[in-house]
Amino acid sequence: MKTALIILAAGKGTRMNSDLPKVLHPIAHAPLLEHAMASGAALDPARIVVVAGHGIDQVRAAALAFHEGSEVVEQTEQLGTAHAVDQAKDALAGFDGMAVVLFGDTPFVQPETLEKMHSALASHDVVVLGFEAADPARYGRLILQGETLQRIVEFKDASEEERAITLCNSGVIACKSELLFDLIKDVGNDNASEEYYLTDIIGIAHARGLSATAVTCDEAETMGVNSRSDLALADAAFQKRARAALMDDGVTLMAPETVYLARDTYIGRDTVIEPNVVFGPGVTVESGATIRAFSHLEGCHVSRGGIIGPYARLRPGAELAEDVRVGNFVEIKNAQIAEGAKVNHLSYIGDATIGSKSNIGAGTITCNYDGVLKHHTHIGERVFIGSNTMLVAPVSIGDEAMTGSGSVITSDVEPGALALSRAPQIEKAGMARKLLQMLKAKKAKAQRGS
Ligand code: UD1
Ligand code: CA
Repeated sequence: MKTALIILAAGKGTRMNSDLPKVLHPIAHAPLLEHAMASGAALDPARIVVVAGHGIDQVRAAALAFHEGSEVVEQTEQLGTAHAVDQAKDALAGFDGMAVVLFGDTPFVQPETLEKMHSALASHDVVVLGFEAADPARYGRLILQGETLQRIVEFKDASEEERAITLCNSGVIACKSELLFDLIKDVGNDNASEEYYLTDIIGIAHARGLSATAVTCDEAETMGVNSRSDLALADAAFQKRARAALMDDGVTLMAPETVYLARDTYIGRDTVIEPNVVFGPGVTVESGATIRAFSHLEGCHVSRGGIIGPYARLRPGAELAEDVRVGNFVEIKNAQIAEGAKVNHLSYIGDATIGSKSNIGAGTITCNYDGVLKHHTHIGERVFIGSNTMLVAPVSIGDEAMTGSGSVITSDVEPGALALSRAPQIEKAGMARKLLQMLKAKKAKAQRGS
């Protein structure tokens, strides 16, 4: 059976107290919406429909950035979850398959859980994801009789007896697409919130003699984000899980709780991550590399055997081949560094290519920006760049060439050549001592005068 995801993301998220729509607040450098879309992706959906309202343009951009084929429909007024789902009706007209409703602010539903719901749909018409709540608070309560889910009652509308139930609604619902929209037709808003509740479709299905049931999952999976403190808690929960998964996959984290990961961080087996390393989005580190303490990586690739840091910064487009070394206080951006090359101290390498086995001396800078445009620096193989060389791009250094320390290189250097561009040294015998005496005398005179 084909699957369509309907992701509800129209709410403003008042409690976030933000100009940014709630579903775009990030966990592990990825918007909440992306986490929800990624968990739904486990069902290999044929269609993904995002229902947006507040900040729809931004929400659309985020949805398309994660999945090009996603569709965004608008809910202009937030009249309730059933009304929100109904906005996807036209988009899914004629869709023959299962519809799964997810909330954009509920990022952690696990693939296995969605698969369990999918299986349950083989013998039931509607499947709801429930959980045993430690503190049921304001969640909707599931009214089960045996395996049969009779209805869901929202907290506001529940009796004291119903409020005592701890089995709660996560919000995730699976149902054949056509049936879902047909059930929604009968949903009204005669309730405490005057909203069209999606949860009402259970009672409606039951009354029609259809069967509904609940599949349950761990409460941690259904965690919703409503405030900045929820966001921080959710991020911490994500980090904890992601670190544990990495360690299971054979990555050493010397101080796991100090390593910050992105949703898409990929790290190969037998790589060692020292304390206090931050991974931004889009990082892959191959096997057997070492990322030393206090490094910051984003949008980059570190190959097998690379040693990075301590205190290194790899920015987007840093492509490091096998056994590259990047040392302390080195920043690398949009640069391809070939096998075995070293940039060990205090350098900026941007918009550049560096050939294999080249050595970049301390304090080297690729001067890539002229105030308007960016320019490329090419460094060949086995090149030796002397300390404190300024490479004024566009410029190319041939294979096996050298530059003298302190040079400002403004034109191309032939392979095998030594380029020097610095003022010749002059020396004045005895001048240092003379100068010192003169200055001391001046100071003594000034002190007598005051
Ligand atoms: C909902 C469920 C409740 C469940 C809880 C779990 C209903 C009626 N209630 O309650 O049973 O225990 O989630 O967290 O479904 N949204 C829209 N448009 C709307 C209304 C909501 O897009 O018109 C989106 C929100 O942005 C949010 C999600 O749907 O992402 C849930 O809406 P919310 O108002 O938070 O529902 P709850 O009251 O929490
Ligand atoms: Ca909610």
